[in-house]
Amino acid sequence: MAYPYQILTEEQYHEAWNKSVANPEAFWGEVASSFQWRKPWDKVLEWNFEEPNVKWFIGGKLNITENCLDRHLAVNADTPAIIWEPNNPDEQDRVITYKELHHKVMQFANVLKNNGVKKGDRVCIYMGMVPELAIALLACARIGAIHSVIFGGFSAQSISDRLQDANAEYIVTCDGAFRGNKEIPLKAVIDDALVQCRFVKKVIVLQRTDTPVSMIKHRDVWWQDEIDKVEEMGNPDCPAEEMDAEDPLFILYTSGSTGKPKGVVHTCGGYMVYATYTFVNVFQYQPGDIHFCTADVGWITGHSYIVYGPLSAGATTLMFEGIPTWPDAGRFWDVVDKYKVNILYTAPTAIRSLMAYGLKPIEGHDLCSLKVLGSVGEPINEEAWHWFSEHIGKNNCPVVDTWWQTENGGILISNLAGVTPSKPSYATLPLPGIQPVLVDEQGKEIIGNNVSGNLCIKHPWPSIIRTTYGDHERCRTNYFATYPGMYFTGDGCYRDEKGNYRITGRVDDVLNVSGHRIGTAEVENAINMHEGVVESAVVGYPHDIKGQGIYAFVICTNTHGDDNLMRQDIMQTVNRIIGAIARPDKIQFVSALPKTRSGKIIRRILRKIAEGEMSNLGDITTLLDPNVVDDIKKGRI
Ligand code: WT7
Repeated sequence: MAYPYQILTEEQYHEAWNKSVANPEAFWGEVASSFQWRKPWDKVLEWNFEEPNVKWFIGGKLNITENCLDRHLAVNADTPAIIWEPNNPDEQDRVITYKELHHKVMQFANVLKNNGVKKGDRVCIYMGMVPELAIALLACARIGAIHSVIFGGFSAQSISDRLQDANAEYIVTCDGAFRGNKEIPLKAVIDDALVQCRFVKKVIVLQRTDTPVSMIKHRDVWWQDEIDKVEEMGNPDCPAEEMDAEDPLFILYTSGSTGKPKGVVHTCGGYMVYATYTFVNVFQYQPGDIHFCTADVGWITGHSYIVYGPLSAGATTLMFEGIPTWPDAGRFWDVVDKYKVNILYTAPTAIRSLMAYGLKPIEGHDLCSLKVLGSVGEPINEEAWHWFSEHIGKNNCPVVDTWWQTENGGILISNLAGVTPSKPSYATLPLPGIQPVLVDEQGKEIIGNNVSGNLCIKHPWPSIIRTTYGDHERCRTNYFATYPGMYFTGDGCYRDEKGNYRITGRVDDVLNVSGHRIGTAEVENAINMHEGVVESAVVGYPHDIKGQGIYAFVICTNTHGDDNLMRQDIMQTVNRIIGAIARPDKIQFVSALPKTRSGKIIRRILRKIAEGEMSNLGDITTLLDPNVVDDIKKGRI
């Protein structure tokens, strides 16, 4: 398969970008025409950022699974679609060809149907990194059900909040998941979540760990039993549901600056086109390449660059169940060597954690199959960038630093591997179709180079967020109201003399901990649930491996003389309410928080103290009681 839209030279990149800005409709219409549509669109684009209302490929009909599966069968039926590497290296790996994946997706789509799932229904997916996770996503898409994947690290309470928000009546899960030397009891967590969600009709459980589980009559069924039933019925085929380009494909919850995560909605047509286009161009994918994205499918990176992008391009996608440091810190390199991986897409936090083990774990692994390295999730520091390029890429692989967000559906700013130049710690240039602008606090566009500002995007691209599920107003206020007429990213950014973009981090109250997005308000809410807590304030601080760590300042009624026990209790509470990923790294008990006379917490001061910057705290004269600052400084951990 050739990709008519593949950019092969730097000149072609500039041509494509210029064309995409001069005439976005002609540009994207051309890209989209190389996909498989049941019915072509009547109009490419309709939009305004006031409501917002964005529609791409209006009137077009398609099913994304026909693009990810059926269309490859003619020539690529026996090409591996998914290679699966289990957590335990001694366990048998699996290779699933396009033909087999097509069959398995249809089988499971029929399982969903038999269990009552219909077009438009929301299906929550809470599974480990097994091929059945990808199969479950695609089976939902096959019948037009809207999937909502929840990362396996979220707690029962988080799941129940999301189930209620999406009114998801169906769940697909596993008995448990293997991760390193741990076994995570996924079904038990679901059971806890469901105590509060009586509206859930069916839970389909895949057996993976053989962990004992409680299967509830009439509600819980085993994946394999249901597959067997479909097989007994004799007709495993499941025609793809005809979807409108703007029908929702999935919801993915992500954190913002308020306490409640929001359900980002992506739609079938635009998401497919943009995820595939960026996959092929950023990584310069060539037919036959093995693509290894180390993210979890629970995050957008996994949706776009493990499942939909690669499969729609007919690529071989490698899914890894385990973690980079188990059984030892050479595991990624084992996997690269074993499968002769060509494209490796990972996160700065993983790189930094592996750097800490030195070069020994890399020795004895042949990494010469690697052609392209990618980074995503947070700013990559120069040291990590160079280590990655030198020790993993052997100075022979372009590194792409890909900046984007859950709300974007695909990569917005990145160099194109080997086509446009890289610059360490810079995401560099916008993809075709992307018009970044920097604005000042007043919303005025900052023109010229060597400038910094808040990063906004001017014009819609095909996979921009359409709405936040069940609350369109929230989508408007969050992304489109701060700077009218633009999509606001929440990131700060610098533009160098050549127009390269360098993302400097969030400018809102959102943390990025090991590449995971966590709202400070969310963590505060969780801490405040603890019976002994009066008030709390959470800020980020620089962390060598995680990028950012979580620092909590907490006022307690009484720690009963045992601060450490109280700390553990608070951690436990955050574990229960959100999940282990949001657990504070540091908890400092304070008697008061720095507040203005109107009662607003001044986070700037807390951030400085958490960072260890004790002298330059800025103006503290507006504080209700400036003395609290000294007390907090003294108690810093
Ligand atoms: C936030 C989005 C979709 C990627 C996975 C995270 C930060 C992401 C980069 C990068 C600097 C980055 C931003 C962004 N971020 N990639 N290459 N360089 N920062 O998705 O959870 O939606 O988080 O991650 O701050 O706003 P997410």
